[in-house]
Amino acid sequence: MRLLHASILKEANATLTTSPSLLMIAASETLRLSLKIKELEEHQKAARNTLVCALNQLLDLKDLGTGAHSTRLAEWAVRIGRLIGVSEAEIYQLEVAAMLHDIGKIGVPDAILHKPGKLTLEERAVMQKHPEYGWSILRLFDSLEQASLYVLHHHESLDGDGYPAGLKGDDIPLGARIVAVVDSFDAMISSRSYRSGLPHDEAIRRLLAAQGKQFDAAIVDVFIPIAEKEVLNVFAATGTTSRVAL
Ligand SMILES: [Fe+2]
Repeated sequence: MRLLHASILKEANATLTTSPSLLMIAASETLRLSLKIKELEEHQKAARNTLVCALNQLLDLKDLGTGAHSTRLAEWAVRIGRLIGVSEAEIYQLEVAAMLHDIGKIGVPDAILHKPGKLTLEERAVMQKHPEYGWSILRLFDSLEQASLYVLHHHESLDGDGYPAGLKGDDIPLGARIVAVVDSFDAMISSRSYRSGLPHDEAIRRLLAAQGKQFDAAIVDVFIPIAEKEVLNVFAATGTTSRVAL
């Protein structure tokens, strides 16, 4: 795209230097080329968005239900980002990261991904490769560099007990800390073939218990009112109840 811009600007300069007397024509040509650049940028943006949606759909085909989970996460992550003052450019990176945070699961064998019940230590090690796999896909896009780092670190824990890098506190990128909170909450309330989702109140209790240890306390504080507000929608989508388990 940068090369294309340079070639278009060169074309505009050539027009101006070879026809200095035709300023009106040159001005109109410059305007036409500016509009062309804008149009190309819009096309590039649309192509990138289509690709993000296609990757999300691919994930849904691989692990049924994950795609819908990712879309829900993206909505929550964007709301948290706006509430804590994340810039619009970073909001886009956050949205993409939340939507594609588990894209690396494409590289995890189905026998592990769909295994009912607990994973062995070896299987868990393979599963825990998925943030790195996801990063290796997204880092290929110049415009998604930040999102690729959020994907890489979405299973880090504030106290350093997470993976893959064992980062602590603010060393974990903010976007990754946001994705970690919404991902964990959604995973807790979602039912799997081998277990039922937790009641909403219990999931909130666990978020609060891990506040400042696993999760960023400020992000949990911002997210809880969002989760409370959405309780009916969430439980309609996940098929769990809002009763607290005794
Ligand atoms: Fe994940």
